Amino acid sequence: MQKLVVKGPVKLTGEVSISRAKNAYLPILAAVLLTDKKVRLKNLPDLRDIRTMLKLLGNLGVTITKEGDTTVFDASTLNSHEATYDLVKTMRASIFVLGPLLARLNKAKVSLPGGCAIGTRPIDIHLSNLEKMGAKIDLNAGYVEAISNDGLVGTKLPLSFPSVGATENLMMAGVFAKGTTVIENAAMEPEIDDLANFLNSMGAKVSGIGTSKIIVEGVEELFETDYEAIGDRIEAATYIIAGLMTKSSIKVTNFNPEHLEFVIDKLKEMGGNIEVGKDFVNVEPSELNGAKIETAPFPGFPTDVQAQMVALLTQVNGNSFVKENIFENRFMHVPELMRLGAKITQEGKAVFIEAPIQLKAAPVMCTDLRASAALVIAALCAEGETVIDRIYHLERGYEKLTAKLQGLGANIEKVD
Ligand code: UD1
Repeated sequence: MQKLVVKGPVKLTGEVSISRAKNAYLPILAAVLLTDKKVRLKNLPDLRDIRTMLKLLGNLGVTITKEGDTTVFDASTLNSHEATYDLVKTMRASIFVLGPLLARLNKAKVSLPGGCAIGTRPIDIHLSNLEKMGAKIDLNAGYVEAISNDGLVGTKLPLSFPSVGATENLMMAGVFAKGTTVIENAAMEPEIDDLANFLNSMGAKVSGIGTSKIIVEGVEELFETDYEAIGDRIEAATYIIAGLMTKSSIKVTNFNPEHLEFVIDKLKEMGGNIEVGKDFVNVEPSELNGAKIETAPFPGFPTDVQAQMVALLTQVNGNSFVKENIFENRFMHVPELMRLGAKITQEGKAVFIEAPIQLKAAPVMCTDLRASAALVIAALCAEGETVIDRIYHLERGYEKLTAKLQGLGANIEKVD
């Protein structure tokens, strides 16, 4: 099993280019199933989650070819409606194929994704709203079996919580539905806008983009398209925080800083010396103060940046409070950061962080994707050689992490 060895403390310098967003491309890849026309997607990040989704599409019969930095999809060869447990169990986002398969084939059989390290993560909002659109759903031997013999029907879908995945699944399900699908209390994350823009580029009729009321008018057919997803705002936030944490001067490029407005404003409020451009952010050495942060659906503070923020807050002047409101078990980075010397106490859904603390190297272990990112940036500040185990979590979501950090001057190496 591979490990990362990070020698700290270090000052970063230079520029890092952000990859296309995995969380935008995962639903877009599922949406490929909607059409028998060719879809060309540019710069898919080379990540484990993306490879899993490609495998899933391949298993369903989609023909996938590469042309330079473009991946070409031909789902005219779709020959299955079944997403099996062996793939779904490795990635929750597999559930995204449910809506498109139902829309295209009027039937879908998708393994239940089950829980994951950060919480139970049910899919009740996906299922109950597909039922409202006319799907008959049975849960059988660990599988969701959905049928809509006469096709799905557009209707009002008020979501009980603005779930990102449910909003995306229902938007895709609405593409061929009879009439109009109105998703109310929809999630507003930028990746949802990106999916809507992708669907519209194929001829779908999605409006209300960027609002909490998404309207999908059913269409009869879709057309060929070329598309490139937005930059990964979570990866960008991770590098910005790494820059601040190590009191470095770095430039984070190739993403839209508006997608990170809340995070950047919060970091500036704490004293962050940050210059925001159209598609880049410059970070300069800063003296930061403590903060009070609560995660919330977009445009609030993203849960996917919470772990990295907790790592940063160990290095600021003053104590901090962080509350996690989206997932019930998303503080697994806390005991690992404490192994590096962080002083953090947890009370239910909140943590209190005492700072500043000089972190010291220790062996630590990745537990989930963003927790792992928090450990890597903490290791950049820790005195000595930190060995980070179970780095396969990182490979789900950070493209070329080691190379990108080496490019910024970090002393980081992958070892067997
Ligand atoms: C997506 C992101 C993930 C991010 C999360 C919240 C992808 C591939 N993943 O995950 O990185 O952390 O949004 O921003 O885009 N819930 C239910 N019932 C449902 C659906 C969700 O109770 O049917 C709950 C979940 O358990 C969780 C909360 O709602 O506690 C948020 O989940 P959701 O917004 O659906 O996140 P995902 O789409 O799974």
